[in-house]
Amino acid sequence: MRKNGDNMGTKNKENIILIGFMGCGKTSVGKRLAKRLNYPFVDTDHLIEKNIGCTINEIFSSKGEDFFREMETSILREIGSDSRHKVIATGGGLPEKKQNREILKEIGHVVYLKISKETVIKRLSGDTTRPKLKGDDLSTKVDALLREREPIYEEVADQVIETDDKSYNEIINLITNAMG
Ligand code: S3P
Repeated sequence: MRKNGDNMGTKNKENIILIGFMGCGKTSVGKRLAKRLNYPFVDTDHLIEKNIGCTINEIFSSKGEDFFREMETSILREIGSDSRHKVIATGGGLPEKKQNREILKEIGHVVYLKISKETVIKRLSGDTTRPKLKGDDLSTKVDALLREREPIYEEVADQVIETDDKSYNEIINLITNAMG
């Protein structure tokens, strides 16, 4: 994978990193993409849950969000230091930290899977696994978080894909085509 003839030097740019809001399909697309490319698949949320031995809900309630965010940074560093090419799915809030955005840019081709507020709400109403969306008024919460995060996702992305009306295959083809 080369962007505009860039020589990626020692940077591990062959990783493909999926970012985007909760419910945009990072894990579902990532697993299928990894299979297509015969790359290992890793998911930062899953690795954190495995390392700590409890769910993200439990981590947020017992250790707090700041602890979870620190875990995201250290997991990302760890993933980035492994030289094997991988498909990496990230938690929706991971790019919020500037430090994480710098690591993302350094370690791979960053693909932003963009999703509309309406699709998030359709997919995540009734979901109980995401502490950031707990409680009443899903629509207001999604609206506020999307407004805050969309510019951040755009800033760090090498590639942006509008996913609302696309199949997994269409999304994967767009990513593999961009890899050249
Ligand atoms: C979060 C998104 C979640 C998970 C955690 C926090 C967020 O991941 O990391 O609940 O702040 O957007 P998904 O984007 O995979 O749902």
